Amino acid sequence: MTAMSKDIRASLEQSRTSVTKLVFPNTTNHHGTLFGGTLMQWMDEVAFIACTRLLRQKVVTVSMDKIDFKTPLPEGTIVELIAKVVHVGTTSLGVRVQVFKENMYDDERELAVTGHLTFVAVSEARKPIPLSIHGDG
Ligand SMILES: CC(C)(COP(=O)(O)OP(=O)(O)OC[C@H]1O[C@@H](n2cnc3c(N)ncnc32)[C@H](O)[C@@H]1OP(=O)(O)O)[C@@H](O)C(=O)NCCC(=O)NCCS
Repeated sequence: MTAMSKDIRASLEQSRTSVTKLVFPNTTNHHGTLFGGTLMQWMDEVAFIACTRLLRQKVVTVSMDKIDFKTPLPEGTIVELIAKVVHVGTTSLGVRVQVFKENMYDDERELAVTGHLTFVAVSEARKPIPLSIHGDG
């Protein structure tokens, strides 16, 4: 891993964004667990907010990479999504999203899904433009 300045590391920490949801019946599949496509939408949204908070620039999703659904999320569970920018490129940002499953009536909580998304800062003409912060390339 290349060196990253303390300022950038602090900024990346500030990008940390969390969203908490409940798995209602209108978001489940025929197995009674959260539909994967809905979760991917939630992941995209929380990651987008993390990027936008960090940059205050227009960004678009260019890639949703390696999403691992390790544990199903049954109807009636609390779901917390936590996004953090982990890589700063020239025009792109890498965001790690972790999804935690939390029971409603006990303290059990586990990491259920992980994913990595990439966003690109774009101009009004929707072309890639340099980020307003500089990372390690
Ligand atoms: C995002 C978009 C503007 C990028 O344009 P492009 O001409 O492919 O961009 P470039 O090849 O110049 O790459 C720009 C950056 O994105 C990165 N990138 C491009 N494709 C990528 C991919 N599939 N995965 C990861 N990174 C990618 C490049 O590595 C580069 O990063 P860097 O500047 O930090 O080194 C274009 O692909 C696009 O408009 N895609 C549709 C976006 C969209 O509609 N998203 C859904 C709604 S938000």
